[in-house]
Formats: sequence, structure tokens, C-alpha cells
Amino acid sequence: TRTQDEEDLPHATKKTMADHLRKYESLFTLTPQRMRMIVDAFKDTLEAGLEKHGNTVPMIPTYVFGWPTGNETGEYLAVDLGGTNLRVCLVTLQGAGKFEITQSKYRLTEEQKQEDGQKLFDFCAECLKTFIDQHVGEEPGMINLKPGAKLPLGFTFSYPCSQDRIDHGELIRWTKGFGNPNTEGHDVAEMFRKSLQKYDVPADFISLTCDTTGTLIASHYVNPKTKIGCIFGTGCNAAYMEKVVDIPKIKHLGIAQDAEVAINCEYGAFDSFEHEHLPRTKYDQVVDETSNKPGEQAYEKLISGRYLGEIMRLVICELIDEGVLFLGQETYKLEKAYAFDTAFLSLMESDPTDELLMIIGIFTHFFAVETTLAERQFFRALAKLIGRRAARLSACGIAAIVSKMGYLEEGCSVGADGSLYNKYPGFADRIHEGLVDVFGDKGRNIVTYHAEDGSGVGSAVIAAMTKDRKEKGLY
Ligand code: GLC
Repeated sequence: TRTQDEEDLPHATKKTMADHLRKYESLFTLTPQRMRMIVDAFKDTLEAGLEKHGNTVPMIPTYVFGWPTGNETGEYLAVDLGGTNLRVCLVTLQGAGKFEITQSKYRLTEEQKQEDGQKLFDFCAECLKTFIDQHVGEEPGMINLKPGAKLPLGFTFSYPCSQDRIDHGELIRWTKGFGNPNTEGHDVAEMFRKSLQKYDVPADFISLTCDTTGTLIASHYVNPKTKIGCIFGTGCNAAYMEKVVDIPKIKHLGIAQDAEVAINCEYGAFDSFEHEHLPRTKYDQVVDETSNKPGEQAYEKLISGRYLGEIMRLVICELIDEGVLFLGQETYKLEKAYAFDTAFLSLMESDPTDELLMIIGIFTHFFAVETTLAERQFFRALAKLIGRRAARLSACGIAAIVSKMGYLEEGCSVGADGSLYNKYPGFADRIHEGLVDVFGDKGRNIVTYHAEDGSGVGSAVIAAMTKDRKEKGLY
């Protein structure tokens, strides 16, 4: 029962916030048993994807054959079209797992993610041209390039593409909120080559790869114990190495059966459309239905940086509608889709002050609303629930690969990258806790670590491996 004083408070009382929290706790908590069920279904999905082409989780053979030796050397360009930024890099591979990298980064606008596909690739080529003009030349410290010569280029394009060569890739579907017309179903390598020609860029297009494959290869370049590469950033996905003999859908291609090829799982699509296995709340359903790709990337929408802030915002809006939060205050700024950045969740969880001053800052500065301490404690706890669920679900995908490949006994290292993994406090620890919940004590044999830059260094190493194979006349 409330006291008279509490009734008079303009903001929600501590007690009511605690009551609400209990409800969200039960919605967002994932038990070990539920996790094991998810892992089993996930494993079946991965296996099915290797059987035949066209599955929702496509398990794409990348035409990256085997591991790097660590002795790949030379100068390479890498262009990385990620979910949030475009990055252009010059990578010098020095052998023995060593490298140097120079780069420029450009933030992509929401408009650029929706304009005609060719225009987007033109932008990539233009940025690369500017970068080359700055770094290639006669002056000391610059890369020397003979007239007419070209630098080998690895393109990291982190969206599902079906490949039948490494320098080709047909975009299956856009993910992470991109929607550029005239691109799905097209060969994006060809589109990018066209843009490179248009801007007369001295680059020789060698390989098209996904950030996860790059992460796998770059991490192995410096840490040969690595068996899985993962991204937990704007999107989420993983890659690992599979024997050709165990990939029924490419067995007939005449590739040596004992060769190994990296598989880009594109497992952000797990449980898409049917929604049979994952614990979706009504907030997750709204995120899905209001996205530009309803039904798709079901797993990714519960985990990745593009969506976590929006999930939290929807819960807050529900409490505003119920008259629990911000009574009598203007809340229109919070009512705008995607107004709540996932970085706010990380900040809330890491606020070191008793008064939760950083949370005050977020709400006053970005949303012009005042909060009570009880509310701020609630927000912090809510962020924790959403962040923890994301990490535990992330553990399920890793666990599915580990269990499918039998990596548990001997253990393995997992190179992981992306803004959530790198910046969200406790994300890695929560993945590790999740792995123990799935596998028991043996789960400790699976260790994630901050990967080498897959989209820059990885792309360069892959371009080097590809050049080498070409020179040897290999597939
Ligand atoms: C999305 C993309 C995938 C990428 C991941 C992480 O899931 O489809 O290709 O690896 O995001 O960037």
C-alpha cells in the first residue's frame, strides 16, 4: 500500500517501479534450459543450411580456402561497407602475423542507406579515390605506385551474398536497415568494379568478403587457436571453417573434398519468418513489424546494436502510455522511433555514481525530461535485462557452432568484434556465463576475445591468400 506522501509525488514511486521491473524481468530473462533448446534448434538450422542452397540461414561457402600461413605480405587496399560506417584502409602485411594499417572513416547517412545501389558504390569508390590520392605518391612516407599500376583490393561487404567465386557475390537481401534499390539479386562486386572504373581508381578488385570471414581470418593470422569469428555490432553473425566433404550443397563442384572453406553463416537470420524458437516479446514484435524487413533477421533483431535501444524505448513508451513515467512532462522526443541509442544502454549500465548522474544527463540532454532516482534505477535495471538477454542469446549462436563442430572438448578461441562486444560493459562476461549455462563447466573451454580488425586486416589477408591461389592456378 502506498503512503499519502507517495501518492502526491509527481513521478513514479520506488515501489511501483520495482513492481514494473519484476514484470520485465520475467519477460527478458532466459533460463539455461531455454538456452539449450535454442542451441539445439540452432544447430539443426546450421546443418540444414549446408545441405541445400536457398535456406533462410544460408551458410554461405565464401571461397576462402583454409587458414592463412601468417606469412602473407604486401600492400593492400581494403574497403569496408559496414552497417554504420564506410572505412577505407591501406594495410601493409609484414608477415609473421604483423601488419600496419592507415585508414579513414566516413559515417553513412540514413539517406545513403536508401538511395540507388549504384550511387552507394560510387560513394565508396569516390572515398577510396580521395584516400589513395592522400597516401600514394612520391613523397616520403607515401606508397609508391608505378604509372598504370594498381593496388590489390579486398572489399568487405557485410550483407548476405551468394558466391560462386571470391570476386563475385549476389546480394541475397539487405540487412541492418539498408534498403538501396536495384541491388538485391545483383552482383555487388560487379557494381563496385563499375564504380571503381568510373572514378578511375587504381585498384584491382580481388576479393569480396563478409566482416565475419575477415574476423575469422585476421584473428587466426595472429592467434592460430581461433576457430570462430563473430560480430556483435550493428548486426550479428559468425563464420567458421568447414570441410568441403561436409558441405553437401557444394560437393559436386570438383573442389578437393578434404579442402576447408570458410562458411559465412549469416545466422542473424535464425528463426526468421516462423518465429518458433526465440523468446520474442511484444516489443520485439513491434521492432520487427516497423522495420523495413518484417519477418527477417529475427535473431539479429533481439541482439544487435541497431535494435537494442529501440527495444528499450518501446518499453519506456509503454510506461508513458500507462501513466507510470513522466506524468505531466512533454515526452514527444522519446516517442520518435530509434531516438534511443543503444549506446545509452551501455552508458546507463556503466554509470558509477550513486545518484546515477549519467542517466540524468541522458534524459535531460536528449529527451528534455526529468527523472527520479527510483526511475533511474529502473532504467538501469531495464538496460541490464535487455543487454544481458542479448549477450545470452549471442552465446547460443556460438554454442550451436561449437556443438555442431565438436569443439567443446578441446576448446577453442572465438575472435569477436563489433560495437556491442567492444563497448557494452560486461557483454563478453555475459556471453561466457551463457556458455557455462549451456554446456556446464566445459563451457569455460570456449573463450571469446577481442578480434583483430577483420574488415581491414582480414580483408587484406584474404586478398593476399587469393592472389597466391590465383598465381598457383588453384580454384
Ligand atoms: C548482418 C549482415 C552480416 C554481417 C553482420 C554483422 O547480419 O547480414 O553479413 O556479418 O550483420 O555486421
